[in-house]
Amino acid sequence: MRVCVIGTGYVGLVTGACLAHIGHDVICVDNNEEKVKLMKSGQSPIFEPGLSEIMQSAIQTQKIHFTSDLAAGVSHGEILFIAVGTPPLPTGESDTRYVEAVARGIGENLNGGYKVIVNKSTVPIGSGDWVRMLVLDGIVERQKTLVPAGGVPSDEKLSEFAAEFDVVSNPEFLREGSAVHDTFNPDRIVLGGNSQRAVALMEQLYDPIVQRKYAEDQSLPPVPILATDLSSAEMIKYAANAFLATKISFINEVANICDRVGADVTQVAKGIGLDSRIGNKFLQAGIGWGGSCFPKDVSALIHTADDYGYEAQLLKSAVSVNERQRLIALEKLQQVLKILKGKTVGLLGLTFKPDTDDLRDAPALILIEQLNRLGAKVKAYDPIISQTGMRHGLSGVLVETDAERLADGCDALVLVTEWQQFSTLDYLKMAKLMAHPVIIDGRNFLDPETLIRAGFQYVGVGRQR
Ligand code: NAD
Ligand code: UGA
Repeated sequence: MRVCVIGTGYVGLVTGACLAHIGHDVICVDNNEEKVKLMKSGQSPIFEPGLSEIMQSAIQTQKIHFTSDLAAGVSHGEILFIAVGTPPLPTGESDTRYVEAVARGIGENLNGGYKVIVNKSTVPIGSGDWVRMLVLDGIVERQKTLVPAGGVPSDEKLSEFAAEFDVVSNPEFLREGSAVHDTFNPDRIVLGGNSQRAVALMEQLYDPIVQRKYAEDQSLPPVPILATDLSSAEMIKYAANAFLATKISFINEVANICDRVGADVTQVAKGIGLDSRIGNKFLQAGIGWGGSCFPKDVSALIHTADDYGYEAQLLKSAVSVNERQRLIALEKLQQVLKILKGKTVGLLGLTFKPDTDDLRDAPALILIEQLNRLGAKVKAYDPIISQTGMRHGLSGVLVETDAERLADGCDALVLVTEWQQFSTLDYLKMAKLMAHPVIIDGRNFLDPETLIRAGFQYVGVGRQR
């Protein structure tokens, strides 16, 4: 099928590359010329495991093309994905200006034949109908440019206006760091809308994925497809993220109580996670949730509830537990080192989670800001940030090139991101290089016994060693 994906960030580029990989003809559109140039040369502008490989093979088979020309993309696609960012506004609302620009732009360029416009961006509930209206606005704008003032359009012109389309909400559930894997192995596909024709085309598009042809375990039953109305699909996306974020805040709260009563949260998480009604995922206590989605989506849902006169108390609590949790490493550093002024703290990891280069709303940023405020010197080593030099949004921190240089002269280390390689560092050597071998394991990722044997004072989160 002919597909156009507008917006080639973490979601758009992965979606475009995966759809091309399964045989569709994809054009990816982005208004960032630099990105387009990079992608045309076969390079991914983001770090995402497995993405470069499928991108490059799709370029070779000519299944994927990149452009900044929206008109060309719209004309090519029978399915048009909107996958632009919806970042948070200072009020907590979602900033929908990029979606708005794209929806109007689609309308202005819509031509010949039936098209399905798919909202993959995470958008406030009600956006499906709004996108439809904006596309229609775009069509009207185009009519104005084609018909002389007061004139009557010719039949030829009229046929150009006769654009037929439907809007579908198809929320995305991929995680950064495993985005390609998640796209080929989804738990479900949600399709919101009231057009059976559009839903049928979407089912055809996803069929190879639904039939698990590209899945890790091809013997699994087909991926469930949930067809809903537009608003329910939009709500499913927010509810899923809000639930997961709340689950993490819950275990973080339990961890803080464990710290006080002498229990071990890793064992508690195992014990409750074995209950199939609870499940063992997203019960990893630590320094709080971050990234480009949980914080913004939970805030946006709270804001939507507020708009409709409902105070989302549980979600507000999940946010405030998280805000406090993001300072837990600082609290633990103060307990061990007492005065932080003049001390040097080394951060192991900067990105909001492993296997990504994404620093958006990363817990490390708040930690750096607070340590600087208290007069501490901050250094960091992150496998991706140190290597690529992508330091957008970073200040007040010296980025070192390896973990041993990081340890040199530090009064304490804080493990901020659980990069796999941090489990096998030479901690014996690192302890000797430090002024005080203290480690705050902000993700309960390391083996306390190993660290203690290496000479460290080990402090976890809700963990007794
Ligand atoms: P991103 O910021 O990484 O990428 C957005 C892209 O859109 C950028 O490349 C930008 O240049 C481009 N863009 C902006 N305006 C444009 C325009 N007018 N025309 C063409 N391109 C334009 O964003 P992202 O992280 O991929 O997120 C996209 C959406 O998907 C958001 O709504 C987000 O909430 C949602 N989402 C993200 C994830 C994730 O893991 N990042 C997962 C699920 C859902
Ligand atoms: C999350 C969701 O998991 C995806 O389903 C969703 O599509 C995406 O948001 C989105 O809407 O953008 P992502 O933010 O990429 O994906 O990463 P997660 O693995 O969910 O982690 C989010 C944050 O929670 C990270 O800071 C992570 O360290 C933290 N986390 C996660 C914990 O502290 N404990 C856990 O047990 C799990």
